[in-house]
Amino acid sequence: MYTLFTMSELEQLKAENNAKFIGKYDQKPQFVSAAPGRINIIGEHTDYNFGLSMPTAINRWVIISSAFRDDNEIHISAESFGTAMVFIPGKSFTPTESWTKYVQGALEIFQRTDKITCGFNAYIWGNVPLGAGVSSSAAIEVAIMNLLRTAFKAQFDDVTLVKNCQKIEHEYLKVKSGLLDQYASQFSKAGKMMILDFKTLTHEYADADMGDWCWVLANTKVKRELAGSKYSERVAETQAGLNQLSELNDHIEGFRDIAIADLAFLKDDTIRKRLNHLLLENQRVYDTAKAFKNKDMIEVGKLLLEGHYSLQNDYAVSCPELDFLVETGKKVEGWAGGRMMGGGFGGCTINLLQKSSVAAFTATILKDYAAKFGIESEVFAFDAVDGAKCDSL
Ligand code: GLA
Repeated sequence: MYTLFTMSELEQLKAENNAKFIGKYDQKPQFVSAAPGRINIIGEHTDYNFGLSMPTAINRWVIISSAFRDDNEIHISAESFGTAMVFIPGKSFTPTESWTKYVQGALEIFQRTDKITCGFNAYIWGNVPLGAGVSSSAAIEVAIMNLLRTAFKAQFDDVTLVKNCQKIEHEYLKVKSGLLDQYASQFSKAGKMMILDFKTLTHEYADADMGDWCWVLANTKVKRELAGSKYSERVAETQAGLNQLSELNDHIEGFRDIAIADLAFLKDDTIRKRLNHLLLENQRVYDTAKAFKNKDMIEVGKLLLEGHYSLQNDYAVSCPELDFLVETGKKVEGWAGGRMMGGGFGGCTINLLQKSSVAAFTATILKDYAAKFGIESEVFAFDAVDGAKCDSL
């Protein structure tokens, strides 16, 4: 008699990466760290303004296999980029490609509080699609920070870990992003959505199961360079709005003290629109959580669509490709709603539809998008999975 043993998707990826590590370094791995990408149901461009979001980690991971070396050198290969780097603690390092900036940032920030006592080899690979807006870069940061914490027995907690990863974005990528991506990658739970409050840095879990309904992503396959500069512009605009309102109103100290009625005090239309998005988007997170509880998927769909229009018109972070994918979704029966997801200017839309409509949705998107933009879109489903973890082998 035999036992049929099926490895989970994640275990398979880890085993595959461990084998790649052995092939590259001729040594057995001692650690394997895995960090997932994320989706976000609603609550976009709210994290850096201490608002609310509803993300979960998905079954796409960055995997890092690693083992100590006899010297103090850190050798890292990244298969998805086809390149490698060598970092020597105490010596200066000049990053060449952007993935090496993430790794450099992680290593240097880690050393501010903890010691890297020995060199190591590492092999990075995974299946988080790059540039699709599902946070492949946060997954690299979180995977490496978990590896360092485990390998060098650092004592910091998970919140410190994600904040360390955010520092990489701020200091090494020069983008003042919030904590959405890293937090979701670290704290998610299989089968759950998170309702995440960036003011208190706390979260609740809600059941991700939706009966006859499901989520699918549709990829524009575009990622615009200006995403970074527009992101910084939005951070500055909303901060300017808060500053103006807090000078005028004693009761306003932070973003969460602002009410819709207060926006009338703002002279600048653009700034008013940006804050209008923030306030209504936070409310949409509450409303979506409530609609979920009531299993009212039609209402969830409506909220998604409202969110999209708000990002398109008030926050101005959408693009023609994203708008087209949302409008195309409307043509499909059983599609309840959808919106652009993530930072914007490319990446994916997230769509809520009946399971029986997935085939029709996929066919319509692929056909219409190719006809309009000459680009082959990609439609994919996902599972909500547990957050990042590093195993000692
Ligand atoms: C990017 C950033 C996140 C968040 C989203 C928009 O993914 O990295 O911090 O601001 O955009 O919600």
